[in-house]
Amino acid sequence: MNYKQALNHKIFKIISKSAKELNLESFVIGGFVRDFILKRGTAKDIDIVAIGSGIALAKQVAKNLPNKPKVQVFKTYGTAMLRYDDIEIEFVGARKESYNEDSRNPVVENGTLQDDQNRRDFTINALALDLSEDNFGNLLDPFQGVPDLDAKIIKTPLNPDITYSDDPLRMMRAIRFATQLHFNIEKESLDAISRNNKRIKIITKERIVVELNKILSAKKPSIGFLLLEQTGLLQYILPELTALKGIDEVEGQKHKDNFYHTLEVVDNIAPNTDNLWLRWAALLHDIGKAPTKRFSKKVGWTFHSHEFEGSKMVYHLFKRLKMPLNDKMKFVQKMVFMSSRPIVLAQAVTDSAVRRLVFDAGDYVDDLMTLCEADITTKNPNKFKKYHNNFKIVREKIIEVEERDSVRNFQPPISGEEIMKTFNLKPSKEIGIIKETIKEAILEGVIPNEFDAAFQLMLKEGKRLGLEISEQ
Ligand code: CTP
Repeated sequence: MNYKQALNHKIFKIISKSAKELNLESFVIGGFVRDFILKRGTAKDIDIVAIGSGIALAKQVAKNLPNKPKVQVFKTYGTAMLRYDDIEIEFVGARKESYNEDSRNPVVENGTLQDDQNRRDFTINALALDLSEDNFGNLLDPFQGVPDLDAKIIKTPLNPDITYSDDPLRMMRAIRFATQLHFNIEKESLDAISRNNKRIKIITKERIVVELNKILSAKKPSIGFLLLEQTGLLQYILPELTALKGIDEVEGQKHKDNFYHTLEVVDNIAPNTDNLWLRWAALLHDIGKAPTKRFSKKVGWTFHSHEFEGSKMVYHLFKRLKMPLNDKMKFVQKMVFMSSRPIVLAQAVTDSAVRRLVFDAGDYVDDLMTLCEADITTKNPNKFKKYHNNFKIVREKIIEVEERDSVRNFQPPISGEEIMKTFNLKPSKEIGIIKETIKEAILEGVIPNEFDAAFQLMLKEGKRLGLEISEQ
């Protein structure tokens, strides 16, 4: 492979020249090199290692660039960053960690390229391309990262126990890369993750969520969640999901394993949506089933109100993981809360039931249908076909009802003010009663969603309530 091609962008020549001016060596390292070899498209993040000061190199590069971009310096980490075109370039000085005999705390000191490569997470992320004039584009691969890329293997450069305890987030990164790239994690590494899984507790929730989001955004997220479960990491991160594992049997009656079912739903929804939050909804749609599971002799296994319970759990889960408690969270809650509605409806598709669905789901009705379609995991081909067909009918009915009745983002045809004016009322509970009667009549299909019909119903309801029509 001609690695020089990876360095076609003019920024690399500028970095090379800047390093020469400072009399230091520099290398492109990590994801950029990996993704070039994997032909994953041109990365927008470039990591540069300098054998010397990364900050000084960043400043020199900025000076040599025509637009003189601002250099952001992170002193505590000894790194610097600048943006050029739409590329983010991060500079770091090569480092080496050594252990003082009296203390277990590592001392970070300047090191060689190989010292720096030693300290990286995976062999496939330790690949470096030389930027010096004489060796421009030469590959430095001391840990056989390229053969590992070919063999699709994730492996740490050092003993995995050391690499993972250096930064326990790497356990999740291993699983995330395995999911994104369809790679296998080497057995020693996988065992080390299982051995060290508890250490994930010291990692900030924000960093964990970044990895979870990347796993969920992959083509087949179940790969990652199965590995998280297998290595014991999942119980520390999303215990709500591990609680769904297992099949209980009482008096010969079983329920399905809701953990594996959930993973099937997430895989099913992946090709149909890139909306991360809808994928979160798929992942969490059944979490209320663990705390609501009951067995009754009459009906067997039940999960009464699991949707309501689940939507409450979504809030606590988001809070615990320090995820945003904003409209995204509310969207996930709403999807979980409504996740069984179309299924019930599909058994008897009436106009009024569809109107109510559209009314309650609002703009999210299509997302809800996408979730419910993904929820069909039956292995019986006849049932599979039948359920999908029922949902197709529901979708058609939604369009039909919408065109006719426009109940999405429902605006009542009669305002509270109109009611007050008609009956000469001050704000009072009667207004609410009349509005509710009109809304119910529209949703039930008793009257159309139109002013005149609603006005007549208002007069009738007013009379029933003993209200008098205002003179003027
Ligand atoms: N790295 C590491 N340990 C970590 C994070 C990062 O050793 N916990 C190193 C790896 O060499 C990695 C490089 O830093 O390639 C850049 O990290 P990052 O930008 O997070 O990841 P990429 O490998 O570039 O991949 P992606 O952009 O997909 O996250």
